[in-house]
Amino acid sequence: MEMNIALLPGDGIGPEVIAQAVKVVKAVGKKFGHTIHFEEAPVGAAAIDLTGNPYPDETHEVCLRADAVLFGAIGDPKYDNDPKAKVRPEQGLLAMRKKLGLFANVRPTFTFPSLVHKSPLKLDRIEGVDLVFFRELTGGIYFGEPRGRNEQGTKAFDTNVYSKEEITRLARMGFEAALKRRKLLTCVDKANVLATSRLWRETVQELATEYSDVKVEYEFVDAVAMRLIQWPKAYDVLITENLFGDILTDEASVISGSMGLMPSASLGTDNKLFEPIHGSYPQAAGKDIANPLGTILSAAMMFEYAFDLREEAKAISDVVNKSLAEGIVTEDIAEGGKAYKTSEVGDWLAANI
Ligand code: IPM
Ligand code: MN
Repeated sequence: MEMNIALLPGDGIGPEVIAQAVKVVKAVGKKFGHTIHFEEAPVGAAAIDLTGNPYPDETHEVCLRADAVLFGAIGDPKYDNDPKAKVRPEQGLLAMRKKLGLFANVRPTFTFPSLVHKSPLKLDRIEGVDLVFFRELTGGIYFGEPRGRNEQGTKAFDTNVYSKEEITRLARMGFEAALKRRKLLTCVDKANVLATSRLWRETVQELATEYSDVKVEYEFVDAVAMRLIQWPKAYDVLITENLFGDILTDEASVISGSMGLMPSASLGTDNKLFEPIHGSYPQAAGKDIANPLGTILSAAMMFEYAFDLREEAKAISDVVNKSLAEGIVTEDIAEGGKAYKTSEVGDWLAANI
C-alpha cells in the first residue's frame, strides 16, 4: 500500500518522540512492503515562532493532503505563565481539531503485564483493565459561543452547546466499537443538572434501540470519576462530551502506570490524526530522555484505524511489549534498571519489528 503521512512534531518532546515513531513506521513499511511518504509541518509554539499562527494554513494543507496525521505534542511554558497572551499554542490544537473535523477522540486504557505494579492502584483492581473512551472533540464548552468577558472584565463566561447530530455521530462510533468488544457502553453525563447532558441521554437512548446487542448504562460524571479508579474493570466503552472526556481520560491513564504510554486517535469523516495523550513535557525537551512509547503506540493505532492494517498494528504493540519485558525502556519506567535514551528505545524497536 502507498501511504502519505503528515508529521506534526509540535513542541517540547514532540520532535524527539515523533522521530522514534518514524523509525518504527519505516521498519513496518519495509517488513510489510508498504511505500510510506512523510511530509512535516509546524504546529503549536513552534509554528507561532515561525509564522505567528499556531496552526498555519500551510500546515492545514499538509494535513488535508495526507492519509493520516501523526502528531507529537503542543504547549510551551512561556505561554502557560502568561494568561494574557493573545496567541496560545493550544489554540493551534483546537483549530486543527475543528478544521479537520476530528469529532471523535478515541483514548484506550489498558495495562502492560510487565508494568502493572507501577500503577499507584491495587493490582487486583487493574490487572487486565481494557476500556476505551470515545470523547467528543469538536463541540461542547471548548467551542460554544458566546464566550469571553463582560465589558468591565469582571465576569467571564463559556457556553456548553451540543446538537443532536454531534451527539449521534460520536455515540454511533461508540456503539460500533462496543459491538466488536464486550458489548457494554456507558454514557457519561451530568443529566441531573445540565440541559446538554439531558440531550445526550435522550439521544443515546434513541440510538440504543438500533443496537439491541449492546448493554447501555447511564452514569453521572462525578460517579464515574470515582468508579473508574475503584472498579475500572466495570467499563468497556465510555462515551462522553468534550470536557468530561478531557478530565476522565487523564484520570484513566494513571491505571496503566505511566501517562507516557497511552496513545490516542482523533477521527473525523475525512481526516484522522494520531497522538500520544501526554503533553509537551518541556523539562525533558532536547534531553533524549522522554518515553516515546505513547507516540509509537499511536502509530500502531494509525495502521489499524487509518489503513485497516491490523497485522502491522500488532507488530508494533508486540515489539513494544517485548521492549518492556526486556527492560529496553526510558528512565520514567526503568526502576533502578538501565535507563535507555529515547533514541535508543526507538532504534531497538525499529530493529526488532
Ligand atoms: C488534551 C489536552 C488538550 C485538551 C489541551 C492541550 C487543549 O489536554 O488533548 O487532552 O484539553 O483537549
Ligand atoms: Mn487533556
